[in-house]
Amino acid sequence: MNLNVGILNGDLIDINGDLINIQDRGYQFGDGVYEATLVHKGKCFALIPHLERLFRSLKELRIPAVYTTEELIEFHETLIKESGVEEGFIYLQITRGTAHRNHAFPDQIVPVLTMTINTVDRSAFAVKQAQGVTAITVPDIRWLRCDIKSLNLLGNVLAKQKAKEAGAYEAIQYRENGTVTEGSSSNFMVVKDGVLWSHPVNNYILNGICRRVIVERLVKDLDITFVEKTFDMDFVHSADEAFVTATTYCVMPIVKIDGKKVGDGTVGQISKKILDAFNAYLLEECSR
Ligand code: PDD
Repeated sequence: MNLNVGILNGDLIDINGDLINIQDRGYQFGDGVYEATLVHKGKCFALIPHLERLFRSLKELRIPAVYTTEELIEFHETLIKESGVEEGFIYLQITRGTAHRNHAFPDQIVPVLTMTINTVDRSAFAVKQAQGVTAITVPDIRWLRCDIKSLNLLGNVLAKQKAKEAGAYEAIQYRENGTVTEGSSSNFMVVKDGVLWSHPVNNYILNGICRRVIVERLVKDLDITFVEKTFDMDFVHSADEAFVTATTYCVMPIVKIDGKKVGDGTVGQISKKILDAFNAYLLEECSR
């Protein structure tokens, strides 16, 4: 396996070289967007939805899209082939480009694309998924465009660090009005009285690809009622089940929040059903 391969502006590179200009706006302003796509059995999972979200993020930030979907698919395939990674994820970022520092956008700036690949330990995730993990809650201090997958992740970084320091797996965020939004690097769902709840898709959360798989593909077949409505922390503490979703692990059950058991403190029935259905869908999609 070779994890030193990367893509810079479409070319295959060794990621250890001097690659990026120190005046890159991604470096100076966090002025750029990213995607992280799961690789399973040597294939990208849900790459088209990831690329569609990437183009949306670029458009919202007025960064020109200088690569086509076909080119980006090819770059992903090249990275998988050259690295030999079977189970992992590909990180892609596009910054606005390089210019002397000035907040306003420079004229005629060319975006910079970089991509890297890494492995994930799926069996370690499987152990956690079977047992469930713990979470803490933190105020959501992020900006008001969390729907854009931007490089500005300081709110998320600080939230995750708090979770780490508390010995928890994830930090679940809530806004000043008490509304629970999402995890520091995941979407959040709860089950109460057999109904699955999640924050509506708007500017307060990222429209996660795993969340979309559950909502658009799985709940109907599983005969689960799904509601997209805001809820507060009291609601979470009275919920029967909770889980987070994100690309690297797909579905992760939460059995304790802020030291209090969720439901009976074990992985819930509906969470397990969704987790199993997700894994089956992932396998099917990546076996084609
Ligand atoms: N993050 N919400 C936030 C804030 C996230 O950072 C992520 C994923 C998600 C879930 O999105 P998806 O299902 O498309 O992975 C929701 C990635 C994994 C990351 O930042 O590395």
